[in-house]
Amino acid sequence: MLLLALETSCDETAAAVVRDGREVLSNIISSQIDLHAIYGGVVPELASRRHLEVINPLVDEALQQAGVCLADLEGVAVTSGPGLTGALLVGVSFAKAFAYALGIPFIGVHHIEAHIQAIRLEQDVLYPFLGAAVSGGHTHLYRVDGIGSYRLLGRTIDDAAGEAFDKVAKMLGLGYPGGPIIDKLAAGHDAGNLKFPRPLLNRDNHDFSFSGMKTAVLNYIQKLPQPLNEQQIGQVASAFQEAVVDVLTIKILRAAEQEALERVVVAGGVACNSGLRRRFAELTAVGTTRVFFPRPLLCADNAAMIAVAADYYLSHGKESGFDLNAVSSWPLEQVNLG
Ligand code: KG4
Ligand code: ZN
Repeated sequence: MLLLALETSCDETAAAVVRDGREVLSNIISSQIDLHAIYGGVVPELASRRHLEVINPLVDEALQQAGVCLADLEGVAVTSGPGLTGALLVGVSFAKAFAYALGIPFIGVHHIEAHIQAIRLEQDVLYPFLGAAVSGGHTHLYRVDGIGSYRLLGRTIDDAAGEAFDKVAKMLGLGYPGGPIIDKLAAGHDAGNLKFPRPLLNRDNHDFSFSGMKTAVLNYIQKLPQPLNEQQIGQVASAFQEAVVDVLTIKILRAAEQEALERVVVAGGVACNSGLRRRFAELTAVGTTRVFFPRPLLCADNAAMIAVAADYYLSHGKESGFDLNAVSSWPLEQVNLG
């Protein structure tokens, strides 16, 4: 099927044209980073307004870049949750109106299902696999048995990993979003003997906690003479990233082993992290576990990823009705019940 896919769950307006849930003909992202940066985080009301402003021209551009016209489209895919309600509603309302006008089906897709299935735009990873969704809102591990089939294995009990990156960056006065900035700084600095706690690392479950790690960073920073110099900021960034990478890699690989899953897919914005990718490669250089990452453009929020599950659902006769609503909170395990 030839689908138009839309993503407006947070601070990126994204539109893509994808054939058969696999071939990306266009994948355009309009970032709102500049809009939210001065507030140090996403302001929901501003996000919705910007989505509304850019969605029409963005869709035109996506169609143009893909070289397709309206009549070629066979369906519309849209993120319907979880995310910011007002932001999601822009995409959902657009998708409904667009599908209605063209007389084609549309479907609401779970944002985290899209992140995890984004890997299929690049390669076929055999089921079952362990899907690790590591983003600004999620640090959740699932056993994935197919599209629509997820069992929760563990999750963060407080902050998501990306949220911790963003908050620590804010403490260091580094700007928003913090993940890519800390990643870059960590690459150029050594943690030395600075070591932050690894919460829940030795706990016998697959849950995570990043709030205590973040507080430990704050306590450390506050004890230093202010303002911090570049070397100190770099060292903190590096030591913090080390702690996050340690916890994520060790716990994800342990969960895979305990669940007898030989394949792991790491997805979401934090999966762009170069230290995380490197450590996974080192830890799996020997042994049978294989770790897959979509390329960075497909790890962060984008619309092409929305088309993967949507194509599957639509071609299996499942579609949304005009009563589709945006859902801010939606457990992935319930994705196939609706
Ligand atoms: O998946 P995503 O684009 O949006 C959500 O669904 O949340 O993830 C955004 C999160 C932000 O917290 C951002 O700081 C983090 O991903 N992130 C990174 C990197 N790139 C983005 N975290 C660590 N290292 C990176 N290179
Ligand atoms: Zn996301």
